Amino acid sequence: MGPPLLCLLILVSVYGQACNSKSFSIDYNENCFRKDGQCFRYISGSIHYFRIPSYYWRDRLLKMYMTGLNAVQVYIPWNFHEPVPGMYDFNGDRDLSHFLDLTNELGLLVIIRPGPYICAEWDMGGLPAWLLNNKDIALRTSDPDYLAAVDSWLSVLLPKLRPRLYSNGGNIISVQVENEYGSFMACDYSYLRHLLHLYRLYLGDEIVLFTTDGNTEKELQCGSLQDLHTTVDFGPGDNATKAFNLLRKYQPKGPLVNSEYYTGWLDYWGEKHSTTSKELVSRGLKNILEMGASVNMYMFEGGTNFGYWNGADFKKTYKPIPTSYDYDAPLSEAGDPTDKLNDIRNVISQFQPVPQGPVPPPTRKMDYGFVSMNKVGSLLDFLDVFSPEFPTETRYPLTFEEVKQYFGFVLYRTRLPRDVPIPTFLSSVPSGVHDRAYVSVGGVFNGVLERDHVLKILVAGKAGDWLDVLVENMGRINFGSCVNDLKGLVSNVTLGGDILTDWLLYPLNLEGPISEGWPHVGNNFIGFSETESNTGPSFYSGTFQITTQGDTFLSLPQWTKGQAWINGFNVGRYWPARGPQITLYVPGNILRLGENTVTLLELERASELSVVHFIDRPILG
Ligand SMILES: *[C@@H]1O[C@H](CO)[C@@H](O)[C@H](O)[C@H]1NC(C)=O
Ligand SMILES: *[C@@H]1O[C@H](CO)[C@@H](O)[C@H](O)[C@H]1NC(C)=O
Repeated sequence: MGPPLLCLLILVSVYGQACNSKSFSIDYNENCFRKDGQCFRYISGSIHYFRIPSYYWRDRLLKMYMTGLNAVQVYIPWNFHEPVPGMYDFNGDRDLSHFLDLTNELGLLVIIRPGPYICAEWDMGGLPAWLLNNKDIALRTSDPDYLAAVDSWLSVLLPKLRPRLYSNGGNIISVQVENEYGSFMACDYSYLRHLLHLYRLYLGDEIVLFTTDGNTEKELQCGSLQDLHTTVDFGPGDNATKAFNLLRKYQPKGPLVNSEYYTGWLDYWGEKHSTTSKELVSRGLKNILEMGASVNMYMFEGGTNFGYWNGADFKKTYKPIPTSYDYDAPLSEAGDPTDKLNDIRNVISQFQPVPQGPVPPPTRKMDYGFVSMNKVGSLLDFLDVFSPEFPTETRYPLTFEEVKQYFGFVLYRTRLPRDVPIPTFLSSVPSGVHDRAYVSVGGVFNGVLERDHVLKILVAGKAGDWLDVLVENMGRINFGSCVNDLKGLVSNVTLGGDILTDWLLYPLNLEGPISEGWPHVGNNFIGFSETESNTGPSFYSGTFQITTQGDTFLSLPQWTKGQAWINGFNVGRYWPARGPQITLYVPGNILRLGENTVTLLELERASELSVVHFIDRPILG
């Protein structure tokens, strides 16, 4: 027992801990992190595994490592992993353990941000929409119903992380509690304390826990908590000295950290594509590193909101976020190194060695040319395929959540109660439609109601005609006080001032049949439609052959708005009529040699050209 004990004693006196154990802690005297006893600072980048196909995780992480980063920062979206209460999904593109294994193999440390709220411009900021089954729930507070769901989720998630903590032999160096909590109106310290208790319970006393907030007094006051290391976020346009001076009021000692240094910014449908110059980003980064601070770049690769996963902001009006989350980041949406990445690498190399050798090149991009599209039929022709159960009958409209359809589309159907010979207003109250409603009478498309923008349209018809209102959830609000963002017809709809009643609700499961090959294979395929009309919610399909597999971008010339699937994989929403995003990223791994299929649900007006175009570069604005 002699030599080991001696070793132990020496190490205890030098580093304050046992020999051969790995350690990561905060040194409040030297104002640095201490990794295995050495003063340490991280230069990190954010990557969202949930916005990148697992096939490409290694490629992206390797590029981050080769840029000279020593850490990556990773959010975990609760709603991505617990789609139904008590049912967990950690497979395929949700295989968090595989992603974390790859970070470790590549020699990257991990700063993990399990929320439970994450913002991230992700549906409901990562909170599961099923929480809204309880109408009175007070999200992000110490409401016992909310806490019970949080407790149950973290009791599943955090034990998976524990063996991966640095001091347990893994590569997770720190864990963020909540997310920019100071920006939330509740300012509920008992909620933060409850989370702190859970994190300590499952992760132990050693792990560095921290909070991140915007650099204002109010945010830092409500977002920081004693016993949690306080950090800030700010972009290249902000004064770093001023931001860190303010941080020092709340975190007088210990390492300075900018947890979200913005390399770019997000987009909104209908606004200009956002960009930030590489000169500004690299100058700001250099400034932060010269101050001796640790930094995480948000984003390093943004990725894609596949399917229905995008969030939305609320600034006077509802503002949904497009499918691309390119973010003008150093790695593009498709994972390609940009000039911004090269500049960042040069800056990093002035402060710490960067790995020898070139950053891996862009992945192969393909131009597969034009594909002609045929109309399969109106969505109303396929209710038996997408909603095989009996519809829900209800006097007044119910929300998506009340019929347990959390994403995509629900059809609200009723009959005109009387003859309407003269065009008459079908109206909703402000914010009564969440978020877009595609209206048809007697199977003929009438137009669109849009949350906060279009509140009424003229309709006409005969008593007994079907009035079909297809409602699209455009993504739940992910930031601010409106995160309880119920979907559907959340208020009554009136016709000439009279409330419409006696609705049939069809929750539409598009993903099931389409992921199994509909309309290209299966018993429900009834052939191509004879109808001439190119308006109203309808399906279109096409096929194309490939002999070389690679990434490509789907361009939709003269199509209006809808959802696109390639080989049954939902590549997201398209809306070239509104922009700024024109093309959709199609990762090469979802293509196959030989025949491939395209399926569109066009919601408004199909292209007269009836083609789509696969090109070899993105058009984002
Ligand atoms: C940044 O803020 C510091 C401290 O408030 C101030 O001294 C400095 O002049 C500011 N720099 C710029 C470029 O505004
Ligand atoms: C619709 O109106 C009825 C009668 O006024 C009311 O009871 C009901 O709550 C309303 N429904 C919605 C969703 O606003």
